[in-house]
Order: sequence, then C-alpha cells, then structure tokens
Amino acid sequence: MERLDKIIASQGKYSRSEVKKLVKAGLITVNGKTARTSDVKCDVNVDEIAVEGVPLNYKKHLYIMLNKPKGVISATEDTSQKTVLDLVPPELFRQGLFPAGRLDSDTTGFVLLTDDGAFAHRILSPKNHIIKTYHATLRQPLTDEDITRFKEGLTLGDGTQCLEAHVKMLENRENVAEVKICEGKYHQVKRMFASLGNKVLELKRVQMGNLPLDESIPEGKCRELTKEELEQIEVR
Ligand code: URA
Repeated sequence: MERLDKIIASQGKYSRSEVKKLVKAGLITVNGKTARTSDVKCDVNVDEIAVEGVPLNYKKHLYIMLNKPKGVISATEDTSQKTVLDLVPPELFRQGLFPAGRLDSDTTGFVLLTDDGAFAHRILSPKNHIIKTYHATLRQPLTDEDITRFKEGLTLGDGTQCLEAHVKMLENRENVAEVKICEGKYHQVKRMFASLGNKVLELKRVQMGNLPLDESIPEGKCRELTKEELEQIEVR
C-alpha cells in the first residue's frame, strides 16, 4: 500500500503538489469515489485510480525503444546539445528515464530508455551476455583473418582486451558488416575496426538481445515496448 499522491506522482505526469491540488479540486477518484486526501493508502494492483476521469494505467517502470538519429547525445541532460530524452514526447515522458547503454552522437539506431535501473544493469553487464548487434559501414571489406581475430577477442590500440565478438559481411549491402558484441566499451566497435587498420564510416545499432529495432519507427521517434518485446531482450 502506498500514498495516493506518491503513486500518481511516480507515473511522471503530475508532481506531488499538483496531485494535492487535484485532490482538493475533487478531480481524483479511487474506485469511483472522490478522494478526500492525498495521503490515503492505495494498492496499485487492486484500486482503480483516475485523474480527471482518466484511468491512471499504473506502470512500475517504462521501457521505450528509440530510433536515434545522428547529432543527438546519449545523456539525460546537456546545456548545448540535444539528448535522447529530448526526443521523448510528453505523453511518454517520466522522471528518472535514462538510456540503458550509450551510442555515440554519430551512431544511429536502437536506444532503450527506461527508469528501471536493475533491468539496465542486467542487459548491460557483459556477464549476462546480452548481445548488441550493429551494422557498420566499413572503409574496406573484412578479411577472414579479421573474423578470426574478432572471435578470439581483439586487443584495442590502448591495450584494452575485448571479449569474443562476431562479425560477418552482409550480403547485398556494400561494405556493411554485422557486428555482435556483449560489452559496451567506449567507442568499442569503431576501436575494434581501427585495431585491424579499418575504419567505421557509419554505425547503427539494430538489435538488443533478441529484439530487433522496429524499422517502422522513423529516426528521432520512439514508442513503448510491449511486454513480449521486452522479454525478447533477455531471452537467449
Ligand atoms: N561502438 C561504437 O564505437 N560506438 C557506438 O555508438 C556504439 C558502439
């Protein structure tokens, strides 16, 4: 059981003081009855809360798929540059959202935004082996030796050791390689190819775990994941 104002404020649309005002104005109902105080205790699994007649649709956490364009940074705030959070429309926004894993400003594709810290930790920890898949446009095609070195675990220019990774050239796409890694070191994919004397010209994240980017989401747009899609990220 939790206080009514805390439950409503946790959904990110109203602050606790706004909830208090709405209660005073008689605009919040619990199980169809007007709430008299904002500290009344409710059970989110049982009680039907409505604000101005709209059911609360309580969600403990939010999980959003964003198709990141170039020129947007994977931070929660920045004074000069646009961040991934700036792309979340007001109806989806809530306090506490952050990107679970960063993409460089010039990398495009799948960014998962959530306010679930434990989930983010699970999908990012290399120990859990959640594969992130990228399409990398390369200056020159891969060699068989490159593929073997990715598999053995590359050593980056500064001596950083990478875990086993998988790479192959995509058919029907000129000089585009599919790269699968389960860690997220700084500029990792670009530095992996640099260590082989190659260069990444374009980079896009296309999948996290078993969940591909929904290519019908235009760049710069996002949508909430379904429960089934969310599960696909951690399925192995
Ligand atoms: N590897 C990179 O080099 N950049 C990214 O944005 C993601 C992975």
